[in-house]
Amino acid sequence: TTDQYLAHTRVVVTAGGTRERLDPVRYLTNDSSGKMGTALANAAAAAGAEVTLVTAAHQVTLPGVTVVPVTTAKDMNTAVQARFAETDIVIMAAAVADFRPSETANHKLKKTGDQGLALNLVQNPDILATLGTQRTHQFVAGFAAETDKLLVNAEAKLARKHVDMLIANQVGKGQGFNQDDNAVTLLQPGQPPVSLPRAAKLVLAQQILRYIQEARA
Ligand code: PMT
Repeated sequence: TTDQYLAHTRVVVTAGGTRERLDPVRYLTNDSSGKMGTALANAAAAAGAEVTLVTAAHQVTLPGVTVVPVTTAKDMNTAVQARFAETDIVIMAAAVADFRPSETANHKLKKTGDQGLALNLVQNPDILATLGTQRTHQFVAGFAAETDKLLVNAEAKLARKHVDMLIANQVGKGQGFNQDDNAVTLLQPGQPPVSLPRAAKLVLAQQILRYIQEARA
């Protein structure tokens, strides 16, 4: 059996791409499959944690992971906020939509002649940044998915979102989203970056959790 180093530890993980509805049959979303977040949830459960996975995607979870399905960023925010006070570690691996349509149409949007369609989008809450301002005893970690200037952009997010760890993830061109493996760099305030080379998402999840546990000790 795996070392139960997360026994008596309550972990909330988010996964998947939120879906922001345009009309009864259409929505805006992204390429997140939920694999990275689900791997973190499964690895935490295998290490003895009490795990809740707040997920916008369908992936196989281990027994011992409580799955809370959500659709939108607002739903995800509500589900995470409801559990935050009784949580020890939060890891936001979800790709949360930054914007949602300002209105959801009640009927399927129709073409009008040859005209295009302008969408009005409004900002979603930043779930991670909110947790960063609320955290007391909790360890709060997020990911930074970047196509360019990975470390510069991720360092900026680490500071702006006021979190304990930012996991920098190069994405695009067959990397990150919807792959079975991944490569990341762990950033923590005042510490040198730690590169975790390409490996299966479950292996990376185990490594990330070890670093988190070390940082909490
Ligand atoms: O799901 P997979 O297919 O396995 O792919 C994994 C992944 C690439 C999606 C994952 O490893 C990853 O990088 N997740 C973060 C994706 C993302 O949206 O990053 P971001 O840089 O836009 O957001 C930074 C952080 O803030 C993230 O922790 C995000 O969950 C959080 N966030 C973002 C926007 C928002 N409105 N609220 C948030 O909480």
